[in-house]
Amino acid sequence: MPILGRFREHWVRPALFFGNNPISLAGGAITTAAGVTMIGHWVLEIVGHSIDNPYLNIIFFLILPALFILGLALIPIGMIIRRRRLRREGTIPAEYPKIDLNDRIFRHGIDIVLIATIVNLLVVSVASYRGASYMDSAEFCGKSCHVMHPEYAAYQVSAHSHVDCVACHIGSGAGSYVQAKVNGTKQLIEVTLRPVAGVAPKLIPTYPQPIPSPVHNLRPARDTCENCHTPTRFYGDKLLVKSTFADDEKNSQTQSVLVLHLGGRDSLSNLLGIHGVHLGHIEYMSTDATRTEIPWIERTNPDGSKTTYAASSLKGEMPKGERRTMDCVDCHNRAAHTMQTAEDALNRAMADRVINPDLPWVHKEGLELLKATYSSSEEAQQKIPAALDAFYRTQHADVYAAKSAEIKAAGDGLVNIFTHNVFPEMKVTWGTHPNHIGHMSYPGCFRCHDGDHSTKDSKQTISNDCAACHNLLVVDEKQPKVLSDLGIAQQ
Ligand code: HEC
Ligand code: HEC
Ligand code: HEC
Ligand code: HEC
Ligand code: HEC
Repeated sequence: MPILGRFREHWVRPALFFGNNPISLAGGAITTAAGVTMIGHWVLEIVGHSIDNPYLNIIFFLILPALFILGLALIPIGMIIRRRRLRREGTIPAEYPKIDLNDRIFRHGIDIVLIATIVNLLVVSVASYRGASYMDSAEFCGKSCHVMHPEYAAYQVSAHSHVDCVACHIGSGAGSYVQAKVNGTKQLIEVTLRPVAGVAPKLIPTYPQPIPSPVHNLRPARDTCENCHTPTRFYGDKLLVKSTFADDEKNSQTQSVLVLHLGGRDSLSNLLGIHGVHLGHIEYMSTDATRTEIPWIERTNPDGSKTTYAASSLKGEMPKGERRTMDCVDCHNRAAHTMQTAEDALNRAMADRVINPDLPWVHKEGLELLKATYSSSEEAQQKIPAALDAFYRTQHADVYAAKSAEIKAAGDGLVNIFTHNVFPEMKVTWGTHPNHIGHMSYPGCFRCHDGDHSTKDSKQTISNDCAACHNLLVVDEKQPKVLSDLGIAQQ
């Protein structure tokens, strides 16, 4: 077999000879480690343990293959360097050493490759796993990237505080993690280069402050929210009790009690109610950046026909803007990081007695302090309690003497509200991020349900009837009887 013999003589032996150098050996180890990890991943996928994690997938699909190729490239590079060096020194042997396991140097080389491979394998796999888990955590998104601070602060006190940012923002699947990485890298560059931006503002893009809503490339809710919430399972009504405190000395409390028609089914099992009627078949056109102006809406009916509603201001023509199919996020746009209004936040804190409603004037005074302008969170943290303290000390000495602990707690409560909703450093203030649920503080449902969106023949109008959405059992009453009838404790 002359061909095989020649091949061994001219290729295999020289390759092994020149390959016995640190660079090539390291290359071999990297390639082996990356390769084995990837093969392990493939085997896991084949037996049904597919990984639904965008960052792990980045590692498995992008980083490991890159390492694999890097390792492969290092092997010939090392060989060429060694060959050049030996040639310079004139020590290239006339005949290359035989492949011989009894050869000590050769055995030694194999040992090194083996050990390096095992060590690298451990390092690469553990590091990949830990890195990915960390990148997946809310801490990573919220803390390491300070521009996310407002969302992170609000998120920590939300019902979703144990849901990772990536569950809503990235979802699962191949395309989305690449897109998320591209966006993330761009943001990272922008944030990192920010100090330089003052010098050459035109050359370096800076991230916007505040980060704007809506997020135009957010995944559709069916790939995120619906991984955890099933829209067909929301049925029945929901009781809502809201407390409001007035600006008088006694902080007079009133309550509203309403029953929201959230879901339900008709006799044909069609979904009804707020959840049932919107999902999947209502498209709209918004003409402003925040999706507040909605002059055109189209509903696809069960028989496939379409009903089109237009605002009275719209004269026949199709408006220009963003066209979208309604999903969860069109109402729950602040699902995990609600920025409350100052009024709502204060009412809530007083109903929970975090801020004691027995402190005279605390509602009026508190609201003023919350709405004042502060140049930084630190300034607010210092000035709000100090001003509240001074108010009672100078104007209500008797209260000041009797209720110093409550005054201190109220000051802390106000600071807490402020630091979860207002972020002067990111230019996020009251009202920066409107909430589309409801219609009291922001247009919300009334973006469409304002009684001004009708079909061309004016026969149908998107309902503005209070009872379509809720039974208003009580509006702003003192100690409503219905609450005691229902056995709900008066606060
Ligand atoms: C339950 C789902 C959910 C979770 C969890 C979540 N978000 Fe969001 N986030 C949203 C939605 C929905 C929007 C889009 C709002 C819109 O388009 O109007 C959004 C918008 C944002 C925005 C754009 C600016 C803004 O405030 O609207 C940022 C920044 C953001 N999220 C960061 C985060 C960070 C950081 C975390 C984790 C600490 C997080 N989000 C967790 C659902 C979520
Ligand atoms: C990873 C799972 C998960 C995902 C994804 C998720 N949620 Fe939730 N959500 C939860 C859990 C768990 C709760 C209940 C928390 C509790 O009761 O304390 C919840 C509660 C809620 C609530 C009621 C509490 C509130 O804040 O008013 C709403 C509304 C809600 N989710 C909407 C959404 C929307 C909209 C999305 C998508 C943008 C979403 N969720 C994505 C797990 C999830
Ligand atoms: C048309 C607006 C609208 C859409 C679209 C919508 N919701 Fe809601 N949802 C509401 C309202 C209003 C409430 C009640 C708000 C409250 O409790 O203050 C609510 C309540 C909820 C709750 C809390 C239920 C409870 O019993 O407390 C969850 C969870 C929820 N929605 C999830 C979703 C998910 C997931 C989607 C998308 C599949 C969705 N919603 C789509 C308006 C909407
Ligand atoms: C993008 C526009 C849009 C928004 C925003 C919107 N809706 Fe609707 N809603 C519609 C359309 C369209 C219909 C179907 C009207 C019809 O054909 O009868 C509808 C129907 C309803 C119905 C059934 C009315 C009936 O007469 O049977 C309820 C209840 C409802 N919406 C509640 C809400 C609530 C609550 C919100 C806010 C959380 C909201 N909607 C936000 C477009 C919208
Ligand atoms: C398209 C649906 C819809 C229509 C029409 C509607 N509402 Fe509401 N309303 C809501 C929703 C949703 C909430 C609950 C918001 C929340 O979860 O905070 C609400 C809350 C309220 C509240 C308590 C909110 C608060 O913050 O104090 C009052 C009061 C109220 N509505 C009055 C009315 C009156 C009066 C009308 C008729 C002119 C009306 N609504 C029409 C959807 C509607």
